[in-house]
Amino acid sequence: MTRKLYVKTYGCQMNVYDSERMESALAAEGYATTETPEDADLILLNTCHIREKAAEKVYSELGRLKALKARAGVQIAVAGCVAQAEGAEMLARAPAVDVVVGPQAYHRLPKLAEAARRTGRAQLDTEFPEEDKFDHLPAAPKTRRAPAAFLTVQEGCDKFCAFCVVPYTRGAEVSRPVERLLREARDLVARGVVEITLLGQNVNAFHGAGPDGTEWGLGRLIRAFAGIEGLARIRYTTSHPNDMDDDLIAAHREIGQLMPYLHLPVQAGSDRVLKAMNRKHSAAGYLRLIERIRAARPDIALSGDFIVGFPGETEADFRETLALVRETGYAQAYSFKYSPRPGTPAAGAEQVPEDEKADRLARLQALLSEQQAAFNAAQLGRRLPVLVEKPGRHAGQMVGRSPYLQAVHLEAAAEETGQILEVEITGAGPNSLAGRRA
Ligand code: SAH
Ligand code: SF4
Ligand code: F3S
Repeated sequence: MTRKLYVKTYGCQMNVYDSERMESALAAEGYATTETPEDADLILLNTCHIREKAAEKVYSELGRLKALKARAGVQIAVAGCVAQAEGAEMLARAPAVDVVVGPQAYHRLPKLAEAARRTGRAQLDTEFPEEDKFDHLPAAPKTRRAPAAFLTVQEGCDKFCAFCVVPYTRGAEVSRPVERLLREARDLVARGVVEITLLGQNVNAFHGAGPDGTEWGLGRLIRAFAGIEGLARIRYTTSHPNDMDDDLIAAHREIGQLMPYLHLPVQAGSDRVLKAMNRKHSAAGYLRLIERIRAARPDIALSGDFIVGFPGETEADFRETLALVRETGYAQAYSFKYSPRPGTPAAGAEQVPEDEKADRLARLQALLSEQQAAFNAAQLGRRLPVLVEKPGRHAGQMVGRSPYLQAVHLEAAAEETGQILEVEITGAGPNSLAGRRA
């Protein structure tokens, strides 16, 4: 019997990757994916717990979905970081939920759904089992034909930044073995993938077992990926400044396929705040690191994450964040108001007033937008290789990516999806570029 599966994914790229793997695990059990929850037999929410707003979204979605359970046999499963963080509490708060499954137990999802159906009782699995879930999850669905793919190489985090839930929801740092990653990458390329983004909560802390019995770092892994015929582009995200080693920096100089883009969050520019955040690096240390990376790859586009209004952050501290942003010059960045998260060290501290957080965020975002617009404008007149990814909004238009991860709109045929075209950049907006075939 074919059942229908509807998946909704929140949060980071790792959730996107995990959702695909769960989809393929369920496909093996006879589930076909549908784009609408109304006709689904199993509704799967893959959730994010990083900020309060993200976590609350899940409950409002569950509130909407619960009416769909009026149809007999409809199940709701919640996966991801909210599932891990709340576990049984979620079942109490949202009785419509049939399965709660944490990020390290995804391979058990089909059995959990089946058990819930058989017994009529909600199932909970938020263990961190010994076995590797990826050994038990089939590869991503073969029907997907997108030219760019994600591949999780490392998961979890041992850094324990004082604001962050990830070490609790994803567990300790674990790296996947090199050979398995290469096999998965070759499979992706055989299916038409030309760009792979290596994913990890701290991807540059990667230390996977190599085929030669030694531990490989991310730089070495990237070199091996660069040897895969047909793989034109390699990216990785997200990195921690303290794990940017010499070999990885050198890879940016030496490996043509490694794209000139780096997401390297710093969070704040004041050493006092960085210390309170338990970041274990200084602002000057970050700036020195950026200098070394730029020496290796002068045109590299930098991206970052920032938190404003961390407990204890003063106006003077915040100005140091602005100063660091000015000194670095970002191509693109994400910024957030600090959101206290249950169970994290900073949650109990006295909070910066909401209006100050909002004011600082607006000022920071104005500066970051200005830098992004300037970075985009600097591409005008340049010729860039653009990977054609998907149809654009207008007929005959496609959207691709520049090496710097900018969206580029151009006239191209759908059949050109997956090709890398030489494009002259003729327009630059705040969030994207426009170009024509050179
Ligand atoms: N592992 C990555 C990503 C962590 S989550 C890293 O180390 O950078 C992505 C971003 O969310 C973080 O970089 C941080 O800027 C933001 N973030 C995490 N916890 C937060 C919180 N409690 N409040 C506001 N922003 C937060
Ligand atoms: Fe969270 Fe810090 Fe780990 Fe990033 S490095 S996942 S911000 S604890
Ligand atoms: Fe969110 Fe979990 Fe990713 S908290 S950002 S989904 S690791």
